[in-house]
Amino acid sequence: MRLSPILERQTTYPFVRLDEAKRRVAARGVELVDFGMGDPREPTDRRIQQALAAALPLTGGYPRAVGLPELRQAVAAWCGRRFGVDIDPEREVIPTLGSKEAIFTFAQLLVDREGGKDVVVVTEPGYPVPERGAAFAQAEVVSLPLREEHGFLPDLEAVDGDTWRRAVLVWVNYPNNPTGATAPLTFYERLAGLAAEHDFVLASDEAYSELWFDEPPVSALQVRDRARVAVFNSLSKRSSMTGYRSGFVVGHEDVIDALRAFRPSAGTAPQEFVQRASVVAWEDEEHVERNRALYARKRALLLDVLERKGLRVTGSEATMYLWVATPDGGPSEPFAERLLENGIVVAPGSYFGAAGEGYVRFALVPAEAECRRAVEILEDAL
Ligand SMILES: Cc1ncc(COP(=O)(O)O)c(C=O)c1O
Repeated sequence: MRLSPILERQTTYPFVRLDEAKRRVAARGVELVDFGMGDPREPTDRRIQQALAAALPLTGGYPRAVGLPELRQAVAAWCGRRFGVDIDPEREVIPTLGSKEAIFTFAQLLVDREGGKDVVVVTEPGYPVPERGAAFAQAEVVSLPLREEHGFLPDLEAVDGDTWRRAVLVWVNYPNNPTGATAPLTFYERLAGLAAEHDFVLASDEAYSELWFDEPPVSALQVRDRARVAVFNSLSKRSSMTGYRSGFVVGHEDVIDALRAFRPSAGTAPQEFVQRASVVAWEDEEHVERNRALYARKRALLLDVLERKGLRVTGSEATMYLWVATPDGGPSEPFAERLLENGIVVAPGSYFGAAGEGYVRFALVPAEAECRRAVEILEDAL
């Protein structure tokens, strides 16, 4: 069968390799503690589950792409409480099926090859979806490295003029997967300024904004001029709702108008019962505080043993991830393999891009008791 050359060029998700290695070690009878994938395993709050069940009888017909007004209002109100911004639920919000599909398709709305606006800028190490989406939109992808010495922020001053001229979309993701780094408001202000100067959309993937430890991270929504800003967020990590598939884009009304024009063709609005459960989730902070406290306890357990064993934990200010430098800055795959042989599954940093080499990522998803067992293993293995 003839396939799109873009599809043919996609490499397999590196986590498939990790799964194979895990199976091999588990077959030898080694019990694994799995810090590999970032899929929260905590149960979704009961009240959210009940809201979904209660909404089942109400559901009928196709959900409209613009989403339920109640959900748009809940999202706008949450943005107001959380970031102190005034969002119009009618014109500046659209619900999405989690954020992944919206991140993947977004470049299709913007890339203009004939007009010479055909560059999508991404950062690496990073979540691969913005880059993959850009490839399918036939954009040229420019990848900016996130380096420790630069606080895991891209060096915007090093980007050449031609890239800015051709840029149509610039993706950033803070709190960052995989480094756990956060970005200051000055960084978003600088990028929003560049977006106005060079006419591109600043897309800020804020899926981890609610998993913080010391101070709540800022949002790109807080910049003075939001004219070219689109923020993507989701209930997946905040409320452990990956399976529900519920997120949103909040942005300038021109961006939301474009999404309203595009999304009915793709058929991507969350089911009505998911939207109604999402209203309950965005309106409640108590379960999010409990979620954060749980990650904080797991984080403290791991930080303690890793630091005592002389490993350098860097970034890692927020998110569910610890970004850990390999001993002596060696390559990440052999170190991850050594840990795997002892029953500890981590993701090699190189899986997330070349600049991830020399680090491994712990996703703090195993239960607390399992994290305690991991501490004991690491005491001996490191
Ligand atoms: C950086 C980042 N953005 C977005 C997502 C998408 O999450 P979801 O589609 O569940 O909202 C993920 C998921 O792992 C992620 O790591």
